[in-house]
Amino acid sequence: MRVLVIGSGAREHALLLALRRDPEVEALAIAPGNAGTAAIAQQHDVDITSGEAVAKLARQIGADLVIIGPEVPLVLGVADAVRAAGIACFGPTRDAARIEGSKAFAKDVMAAAGVRTARSEIVDNPARLDAALDRFGPPGGEAAWVVKDDGLAAGKGVVVTTDRDVARAHAASLLDAGHPVLLESFLDGPEVSLFCVVDGETVVPLLAAQDFKRVGNNDTGPNTGGMGAYAPLPWLPADVADRIVDEIVKPVAAELVRRGSSFSGLLYAGLAITSQGPAVVEFNCRFGDPETQSVLALLDSPLGQLLRAAATGTLAQLPPLKWRDGAAVTVVLAAENYPSRPRVGDVITGSEADGVLHAGTARRDDGAVVSCGGRVLSVVGTGSDLAAARAAAYALIESIRLPGSHFRSDIGLAAAEGRISV
Ligand code: GLY
Repeated sequence: MRVLVIGSGAREHALLLALRRDPEVEALAIAPGNAGTAAIAQQHDVDITSGEAVAKLARQIGADLVIIGPEVPLVLGVADAVRAAGIACFGPTRDAARIEGSKAFAKDVMAAAGVRTARSEIVDNPARLDAALDRFGPPGGEAAWVVKDDGLAAGKGVVVTTDRDVARAHAASLLDAGHPVLLESFLDGPEVSLFCVVDGETVVPLLAAQDFKRVGNNDTGPNTGGMGAYAPLPWLPADVADRIVDEIVKPVAAELVRRGSSFSGLLYAGLAITSQGPAVVEFNCRFGDPETQSVLALLDSPLGQLLRAAATGTLAQLPPLKWRDGAAVTVVLAAENYPSRPRVGDVITGSEADGVLHAGTARRDDGAVVSCGGRVLSVVGTGSDLAAARAAAYALIESIRLPGSHFRSDIGLAAAEGRISV
């Protein structure tokens, strides 16, 4: 099978590496890719938000399967265009991608499916903001205000704060920019990312993972697109993972089918394990970044065959997935100033080692690898347990040089020390 991957992050680099292990994958291409993916896939520079451009490229290179990584092309309907060209595509239709693209749609689906999620309210009129803030957060009994951009914001549109002025300022800035604001009640408890390969009502869960959204150690500082992740979760009882699939993901998949918005692709449930059980923080319509880097490092089954089965409606016929023993830890190396406007153009050394996945990188004319984005690299360490995987990941990241860069040093630490319980 000839596979075209769409995207340019470390998630797409991880997808390519896992696809390369599948004996049925004979050729790999990526658009637009980065300096790291260029070494393992044919690279194409097209506008990945244009369905027409992606379908044309897929036809030109004879792709049998297109895998769309990021949410923006999915929400814009690129998967629809690829399918209309008669090519199998892993990724939901524009209609089904609203589960991520519109938080109001997601809340409506969850309500109809009877799935636990945070209480929420959309505010689109600044005159109603203060009264709405009073219905959420302290002193109303909740631990914090949760203020979100109702549209796509690459994880950075969320502010969780106990300071009403901070919550108000974030909401007001979103409203000033013409973005509706979603206020939510705060869900307490450790977070879980559960990725499920979905084809209509067939749901195949991958290993559960946890990501780290704040920029600083001990979950301090602003939200980012994700600073690290680990899998599996030694503290998550198997019956809770089963409940997430049976009581949350399957009912949501069935509700999407019932509405005529059947989902085919990767349904990502972001959850909090509260004292009353799992509750949904958000759904995404694609693989998460950086959790994918950890999850796929442990996948033993052939990824191309799995994603092709979902894309062609044969997922239910696949044998159960096989996983490698042990654990995987991903640590993100970010550019100076990220998540604000990152410094770019710095030379990176040590980025060609095994286990280093590229994201915001480009190759300069003189051959040097330079930074060109906020999350520059992901390093992935594996080991027999979380402590060993952490040691491998941190040894690797210490061997890379990028002026001004920063990373969290506590990815997976609380879990490795047995400090998380549900
Ligand atoms: N890990 C967060 C995300 O992919 O949205």
